[in-house]
Amino acid sequence: TNSRIQCRLLQPRPSFGIAFDIDGVLLRGQHPIGGSTKALRRLYVDSTFSGTLKVPFLFLTNGGGTPESRRAIELSELLGVNVLPSQVVQGHSSFKSLLNRFENELIIATGKGQPDLVMSEYGFKKVFSIGEYASFFENIDPVSQYKSWTSKQAFDSNCDPHGSMRRQSVLSERVKAAFVVSDPVDWGRDIQVLCDVLRSGGLPGHQNGNLNQVPLYFAADDLEYQGAFPFKRLGIGAFKIALESIFERIHHIPLEYVCYGKPNPLVFKNVEAVFRQILLSHCDDHFVNKGDIEVNGFKTLYMIGDNPVVDIKGAREAGRPWFSILTRTGVFKGKENHVEFPADLVVNTVEEAVDYIFASEH
Ligand code: G3P
Ligand code: MG
Repeated sequence: TNSRIQCRLLQPRPSFGIAFDIDGVLLRGQHPIGGSTKALRRLYVDSTFSGTLKVPFLFLTNGGGTPESRRAIELSELLGVNVLPSQVVQGHSSFKSLLNRFENELIIATGKGQPDLVMSEYGFKKVFSIGEYASFFENIDPVSQYKSWTSKQAFDSNCDPHGSMRRQSVLSERVKAAFVVSDPVDWGRDIQVLCDVLRSGGLPGHQNGNLNQVPLYFAADDLEYQGAFPFKRLGIGAFKIALESIFERIHHIPLEYVCYGKPNPLVFKNVEAVFRQILLSHCDDHFVNKGDIEVNGFKTLYMIGDNPVVDIKGAREAGRPWFSILTRTGVFKGKENHVEFPADLVVNTVEEAVDYIFASEH
C-alpha cells in the first residue's frame, strides 16, 4: 500500500469530467456516429462497460420526450455501455426546479414521446398532454377529423365514463402553466391550443379580461438540430418562432416565456453538481482524485457539442471550468472555427475529442 500511496502522490490524477451532446455528436437518429461507441468505452474501468467509471461523464442533450430512466436504457442499447439515469440531463430536466410552484396545479405539456409522463415522473401531480387536454374541448381543433392519429384518442377519452368526469373537472379549472417538453408533433393544434390557453387565463373559450399570460416554458430553444436526415431539421426553437409570431398577431402583446436547456448558463452551472454526484458514487478512486475535487472543484469540464450557438455558446458563457470542443459531425461542418462562438477546440469527431482529452489529462 505504501508504494501505491507514493505512486498516487507522485502522479496526481486529473480532476476533469466530460459532457456529451447526443444528436450530431454521438448519434444521428438511432445510429452511433464519429466513433462514439469506442470513445465512450474508454471511460469505463472494465471491459464489460457496466459499472465503475474512470472519468465522470454525462449526456447533456436538448432532446427529450422520454423520462431520464427510460432514456438511459435506450442510450445503453444504442451505445453499448451501461448508462445510468443520473448521467442523463435533458432539456426538460430543468423543469424539476418548478415543482414547488406547480406541483398540485393543472398544467399541460406537449412534444414528441410522452411529455405528460416526463412531467409526472418529476412529481407534477395534475399534468395533461395537450392532446388529451384538447380532446376535452369539442371543435377546439377544427381540422382534427383529418388527423387519423388524434381522432381516435379524442373518441376514446370522451366515451369512457371516468373520462367524462375528468373532462368536467378539467373544463372548469384554469391551466396554470404550459410546458413544451420536446419537439412538438402537431404544430397546428399546439399553436391553436396554446394561443387559447395562454391568453384566456388558462380557460380556453373564455375572455381573459386583464389577466396575465399563463406562464410558458420551453425545454430548449434549438432552431435546428442534426437528425438522421442529411440536412438540419427544425427544432423547438423553430416552433417557438411560429407560436410567438402568431400569438403576437392575434393578441397584440409580446409572448412571454422562459427557455431552459443549453445554451442557458444555468444549465451548465447546475450540471456541475450532477458531475460531483457521479464522481462520488460511480468513479474508481484509483483513476480520479475525489479529495482534490471535493476541495477545489473540477479543474476542467469538457463540453463536446456540434452546435456552436447552443453547445459552444453555453459552455463559453458558463466560463471556468468549462472547455468547449466542437465536432464536425452535426450542425457545424465548417473548415475553421465558428466565427461568432469559437470553440476552444475544433475536431472532426467525438472520438478525436476524447483522444485529445486523454492526451492532455494523462
Ligand atoms: O431534438 C433534439 C435537439 O434539439 C438537440 O439535441 O443532443 O444535440 O442537444 P442535442
Ligand atoms: Mg447536438
